[in-house]
Amino acid sequence: MQPHRRPVNLALIGFMGTGKTTVGRLVAEQLGFEFLDTDELIQARTGRTITDIFAKEGEPAFRALEEQVVQELSAREKTVISTGGGLPTNPENLAALKSFALVVCLWASPEKIWERVKNQSHRPLLHDPDPQKKIRDLLAVREPFYKQADVLINTDLRSVREATQQIVLQYKLGGGKR
Ligand code: S3P
Repeated sequence: MQPHRRPVNLALIGFMGTGKTTVGRLVAEQLGFEFLDTDELIQARTGRTITDIFAKEGEPAFRALEEQVVQELSAREKTVISTGGGLPTNPENLAALKSFALVVCLWASPEKIWERVKNQSHRPLLHDPDPQKKIRDLLAVREPFYKQADVLINTDLRSVREATQQIVLQYKLGGGKR
């Protein structure tokens, strides 16, 4: 852990459908931390759904809101922050998260991701004629960013409970604040 880092929070990054929100809530409960989700913060702030923001203002406007939210979170402590799947592809966001949180990536194969998201409709990036290809393509582009996490947890073969335990353990081992 580099000296300029203050891992007083825990940030979860990773592709859509890797379980960041579900696992994040459980990790927060176990560490006695507050739980925040960047998508929920954006929706609360704008009073609009993510789908609506994408449709009316486009993806760049959504990415600007994400960046703003990350900057605002830097003052927090003892918080588990679940982030939108594309948020760490902005290097400034990733650097900011690293400055105030231990960054944990939940990983999953494109097949598992598809299995988990195929019956959900709230993710505009997957409103695509070939969503499976879209998942593969986006994952390939994002992989180098996700792999900059401090801890990488493969969720393909892990239950939510196992992933949660691993993360709590890693946080305690990593010298995070409790
Ligand atoms: C996105 C992931 C979504 C949400 C938005 C864009 C992405 O969050 O931020 O639809 O770019 O991967 P989840 O990862 O929580 O689904």
